[in-house]
Amino acid sequence: MLHGTLSRFSATRGFAQQQGQGKSARKLTSLELQYMKRSGKRISMLTAYDYPTAKHAENAEMDIVLVGDSVGMVVLGYETTQPVTMEDMLHHCKAVRRGAPSRFIVGDLPFGSYESGPEEALRNAYRLVKEAGVDAVKLEGGKNRAETVRKLVDSGVAVMGHIGLTPQGISVLGGFRAQGRTAVKARSILDDALALQDAGAFGIVIECVPSIVAKAVTDALKIPVIGIGAGPHTTGQVLVYHDLLGVEHHPHFEKHVPKFCKTYAKLGKDIDVALTRFRDEVRNGEFPTEAFNPYKMSAEEQEKFTSLLDSDKSQREAEGEVVGKKLREADEYEVTKLY
Ligand code: KIV
Repeated sequence: MLHGTLSRFSATRGFAQQQGQGKSARKLTSLELQYMKRSGKRISMLTAYDYPTAKHAENAEMDIVLVGDSVGMVVLGYETTQPVTMEDMLHHCKAVRRGAPSRFIVGDLPFGSYESGPEEALRNAYRLVKEAGVDAVKLEGGKNRAETVRKLVDSGVAVMGHIGLTPQGISVLGGFRAQGRTAVKARSILDDALALQDAGAFGIVIECVPSIVAKAVTDALKIPVIGIGAGPHTTGQVLVYHDLLGVEHHPHFEKHVPKFCKTYAKLGKDIDVALTRFRDEVRNGEFPTEAFNPYKMSAEEQEKFTSLLDSDKSQREAEGEVVGKKLREADEYEVTKLY
């Protein structure tokens, strides 16, 4: 059940002109994303998790911003995406909405929020749309989720599917492993994709499959197919923000560095260098110099302040002596307790 042809919508003309200028200054719609596939345009998608990451995605004019449940691994420090909750997703989706008001935002339905049936899925999808302002939701699975996708789309929620490696199912898949490496399994992935399209998904993410499989799926589908670790033949590509930028210190990067990920920067190293310099400059008194204190007092006020300080100097010194003695004694007490 595909959405209707875009040519019927006046938005399309504006969209085509906008694309001609190479800019997408306003938010795309799910129909426009489908039109991009039909007109051979490639779609950029990036994950974001909070206001600053969303702001960068907005500045870079990403076609789609995904608030992925990868937030659990790259931001919250979990080993997998499984512990991520609806409350986590709502919290992060809201921040991303504030940071990227003009991007098409997809929010992940987390593990355990949609599998028990279409009604539960709809309740949680509505929360992401109504409370966090996402434009669409994403859920993992293929044929087994077709009924749920149909229910969501029929109820007014745009849905993106996610097939191939579906990280929420890691316990069943036996690890973060490539999928579709036998002919039968590859064919089954294509069937998953067709079932999602038929159920009304406006697009699909395909993760960690041989490029021949992603190409077959992309060729067979009328809706956009966004690849991650799926080769060059898909309609678009998505990467995880932290992986792309080389922010190295999270469990995902340290233990499961995705081989398919191209790093476009080394922010992790730059951050370590900058923070160590700050620490050293604080410790050795290099920072801040007076240049970093822009708040000035007039000469007249400075004079008044000095005489105010002088007026009760001896009283303050005496009081300070009492407090200092107490602190020294407390210190001695703590130190003796340690040994
Ligand atoms: O959660 C996520 O970041 C994702 C992408 C890897 C597609 O689902």
